[in-house]
Amino acid sequence: MAGRLQDKVAVVTGGASGIGEGMVRRFCSEGASVLLADIDEPNGAMIAAECGAEFIMLDVSEPDSWQQLQGTISDKYGRLDTLVNNAGIVSSLDITAVTVEAWQRLMSINLMGVMLGCQMAIALMRENPGAVGGSIINTASSTSFLAIPDVAYTTSKAGVVGLTKSVAVFCANEGLNIRCNSIHPGATLTNILKTAIEQTPEVEEACNRMSPLNRMGTVEEVAAMAVFLASDEASFCTGGQYAVEGGTVSQHPKM
Ligand SMILES: NC(=O)c1ccc[n+]([C@@H]2O[C@H](COP(=O)([O-])OP(=O)(O)OC[C@H]3O[C@@H](n4cnc5c(N)ncnc54)[C@H](O)[C@@H]3O)[C@@H](O)[C@H]2O)c1
Repeated sequence: MAGRLQDKVAVVTGGASGIGEGMVRRFCSEGASVLLADIDEPNGAMIAAECGAEFIMLDVSEPDSWQQLQGTISDKYGRLDTLVNNAGIVSSLDITAVTVEAWQRLMSINLMGVMLGCQMAIALMRENPGAVGGSIINTASSTSFLAIPDVAYTTSKAGVVGLTKSVAVFCANEGLNIRCNSIHPGATLTNILKTAIEQTPEVEEACNRMSPLNRMGTVEEVAAMAVFLASDEASFCTGGQYAVEGGTVSQHPKM
């Protein structure tokens, strides 16, 4: 039986770990040709080999790195159907502690990297043979709506919402069939959180309590939303914010 992403070419940034890894595995199982793009070559190459993806070295904060990726996709695949701008980092620095260097580093990955990805995707998707079109998916966070003290992270994830809507509206106004949406995971057990839990065990219970379902999400649950948005079933979905956070932002915090 054909998969839901059969014959589509997809790039997932930050695919060497966590949520991105889950997306790479699921996209491959749905029939897509997947490029796993990351700075972590050992893990990325291993995961790619396991599931039939191709590993590509990409630093999302480097314009030249995107330029190279664009050339590779054009030459080897001849089209791009889906880009997931998923790579992201945290800084754990509040407004009194953050430095200009830390702020710029995080913004260059979490926000500028997403902008550069959107530029590359539009350039390729408008040249797709047959028909212009594609789906851009940006991994934001429940932090886009509910702040945490990590000021650069919170700001970057709120920024991803505006960036996503702007790209969606531009593409629609231009008559390009390119959709752009953001996914908003809640606490999801990946390396980012595992490290925090190792350092401070109480973080685990606090993360469970964030959702009224009283647990964290899984990478598979986030990947399922990405499959929907990448597929043709999401043909009328653009500019949207798709929560995968177990009701976290719906719950009154004092109840
Ligand atoms: N885990 C959560 O609870 C959670 C919640 C909400 C949103 N998110 C978001 O989901 C996305 C994935 O997070 P995760 O939890 O899977 O993290 P993770 O640390 O497990 O994976 C992040 C991946 O991004 C890659 N990466 C980092 N910098 C990069 C760069 N400059 N260029 C290319 N790749 C780079 C890393 O090598 C890694 O493979 C992030 O955008 C994160 O902010 C995570």
